[in-house]
Amino acid sequence: MRLDPFAIRSMFPALDRQQGGRPVVWADGPGGTQVPRTVIEAMSGVLTRGASNHGGYFSASADSDEVHEAARAAVADLFGSSPDEIAFGQNMTSMTFALSRAIGRTWSEGDEVVVTRLDHDANVTPWMLAARDAGATVRFVDIDTETATLDLDSLEETVGPNTRLVAIPAASNAVGSLVDVARAVEIIHSTDALAFVDAVHYTPHGPVDVRAFDCDFLVASAYKFFGPHTGALYGKHELLERFDAYRLRPAPSEAPGKWETGTQSFESLAGVVAAVDYLGSIGASLAESPRSTGSRRADVLAAMAATRQYEQMLSKRFLDGVSRIPKVRVFGITKGDPLERTPTFGISVDGLAPDRVASELGAEGIFVWSGDYYAVEPIAALGVADTGGLVRIGFVHYNLPEEVDRVIAALERIAG
Ligand SMILES: Cc1ncc(COP(=O)(O)O)c(C=O)c1O
Repeated sequence: MRLDPFAIRSMFPALDRQQGGRPVVWADGPGGTQVPRTVIEAMSGVLTRGASNHGGYFSASADSDEVHEAARAAVADLFGSSPDEIAFGQNMTSMTFALSRAIGRTWSEGDEVVVTRLDHDANVTPWMLAARDAGATVRFVDIDTETATLDLDSLEETVGPNTRLVAIPAASNAVGSLVDVARAVEIIHSTDALAFVDAVHYTPHGPVDVRAFDCDFLVASAYKFFGPHTGALYGKHELLERFDAYRLRPAPSEAPGKWETGTQSFESLAGVVAAVDYLGSIGASLAESPRSTGSRRADVLAAMAATRQYEQMLSKRFLDGVSRIPKVRVFGITKGDPLERTPTFGISVDGLAPDRVASELGAEGIFVWSGDYYAVEPIAALGVADTGGLVRIGFVHYNLPEEVDRVIAALERIAG
């Protein structure tokens, strides 16, 4: 069954935004997605009813305990894990810093930590700093610069008996390439190393299945999958228990609570539940008889399968359109069926700085990013760090083919 983008769009108030009398084009999904009305209502509902800290002997506090548990159950359905393997925090970056410090304490000289040239810096620098503090060595996995994809041969050559942890992306936020996570984890697990997966960019674009990936840890950010600004960490329960979290003395000593520092944003957690419910509702609406499975996990998987299919169409349309503009170059995957990519495109326009292109598009109400968007390594590996990076145009399942066409037409004009 196919997604109905018009039905989807009607759920997102921000998609009605106008500029200069025209609807804007939100082609900035990789930097953060808009939220459906149900997420807004869930969040404002918490604040309107009155939110108290959790763990108290009164109903408003019990509500916060309830929302916290509901959020763990929701993200467990999104990731295919159990709820006691899910912890929340401010964002992916702060959760990765916390985990890397805790794991890094167990490393010493001679140990090796592996990062990749495809990752956002939030999956590179925390591991480099933890390695530095422990006296461990950092090694890099290369990318194939023709296709901007992770080189699994390089991964195989880089890991070895001294590798303690490998941090990989599930998809690139810079150029959209997908990584075969299950295969990469298999390579990592051919050694004794732990596999940490950054699924921040991937989560809104495809099914996450931590059991099938067999990764040890995985992180995502709800604001990239139609929810609020909150980070979510999955860890195999035994590993979340094994490592010593930096935590306050009165804070929980068991996993997953010991990985959550300070007071959580309960309104955001309510928004996380609503975001996963939103995805589930998309899946359920595709079934012969809505909610026929009765399983939110199955509904989410159905939604993500339909999303993949819909986004393939958007990607092909975009690639077809830009291929007719000689001055535009796409960095990354342009061929294949299916295209092993998300609809996130890193492009350059001959003779124009990326910031200039982004600002001209912005002036027309087309929202895109330019520069490196913290993807320091891929931008350097692709040889565009000194020329201002790339222009990033990214679609999600609420974007329309007509919007892709509008971006192409604008690029054609700007390229001259
Ligand atoms: C792939 C990827 N990883 C990590 C991050 C950092 O996430 P957060 O903003 O939640 O710290 C981002 C944010 O853009 C990202 O795209």
